[in-house]
Amino acid sequence: MPPITANSYPSNLFSTPDLASDRRNPPDVFLQPLHTSSVARELIDTARALVHPRGKGIYATDEDPQTIAAVLGGPIDEARLKEWTEEEQRDRRRKWREAAYKAISSEYISGVILYPETLIEFQLAELLTSKGIIPGVRANADLRPIPRSEAELAVEGLDGLLKKLQAARIAGARFSKWRCPIACTSVVRGLPTQAGLETQADTLAQYAAISQQAGLVPIVEPDVAFTEDADLPRSADVHERVISAIYERCRVHGVLLEGSLIKPSFPQPGLKHPSRDKVTAEDVGLAIATVIARSVPISVPGVVFLSGGLPSEVATSYLAALNALVNSSKPDSPFRRLPVLSFSFGRALQGDAAKHWVRGDEEKMKETLEKWSRACWLAAQGKTA
Ligand code: 13P
Repeated sequence: MPPITANSYPSNLFSTPDLASDRRNPPDVFLQPLHTSSVARELIDTARALVHPRGKGIYATDEDPQTIAAVLGGPIDEARLKEWTEEEQRDRRRKWREAAYKAISSEYISGVILYPETLIEFQLAELLTSKGIIPGVRANADLRPIPRSEAELAVEGLDGLLKKLQAARIAGARFSKWRCPIACTSVVRGLPTQAGLETQADTLAQYAAISQQAGLVPIVEPDVAFTEDADLPRSADVHERVISAIYERCRVHGVLLEGSLIKPSFPQPGLKHPSRDKVTAEDVGLAIATVIARSVPISVPGVVFLSGGLPSEVATSYLAALNALVNSSKPDSPFRRLPVLSFSFGRALQGDAAKHWVRGDEEKMKETLEKWSRACWLAAQGKTA
């Protein structure tokens, strides 16, 4: 591929046919007129490369500065954290990201999601690309309450998004992600509302279309809350409804599903529901497999789960149980036809490693990141370490 410069890409890739390469290397799916063949080919190849060979997954490192300061603060540094200047904190973020990216292996990790600061200002995409890891970027901006239902939060950032993502592509990104929080309570308490659900689904689909317009594979992330009183069937039902709604809106907005991925949460009982401690990884695995079979179109190449702050062991056990269920399903089971089921974990991958780095133990940090990357890679094949 020729080097990418600020002038390499027109503002709307899909409206600029590249006939020569379209004829040379057509994608193997039927395209709507709004998708040029060469861009579609690249989107499809990138989406597939993020989930193949089976086992590989994504490392999510797109926390905003406040969140990463908390991760890197920890009990031993809380006092010092307050003393650090903005510049010192920025330098610390850069050093942590760099250390983590140097530590990970392309044997287990296919892609990394970067915070825009890491991509554009620290320019760390090349470090990943040189290791055979695909850089991506966080696309969503801030949250704001939905007027009709103030307990639910819509996501800002669609204005000016195309330009922002084009700049990210020039800086080396090849995919992006957008997280929408979905409230989830018991049926009696009534969240999510229809207004909330439709707002999130349409925002995710608009984002996905714009991301593809900028030449980046979109990862739509419906993050269903598990802090309230929903039980497992209710959580699974909310997941199924929101994911179905997202793909309905993706059809309306013309998203090329083969060049996209989805990053859902794991359906699970809420922290305030009495069944929370009784649920097994196998219960969760069956609920997830059912949700995905009913709501994710077969043309989507992969589902990459978020860990949602679950302990690493728990998040990994859910992924392993899900993939073990797929492996043991009969040939005529719908679970045999599911997309690749992998991970896009943040906290479950790096939580322990960050603590070692904070204590200055770089070797232990590398070892821990390797340990959890490998555990996730095994889990995504239905195996345990
Ligand atoms: P966690 O795995 O820590 O939930 O992070 C994934 C992510 O990208 C959340 O938006």
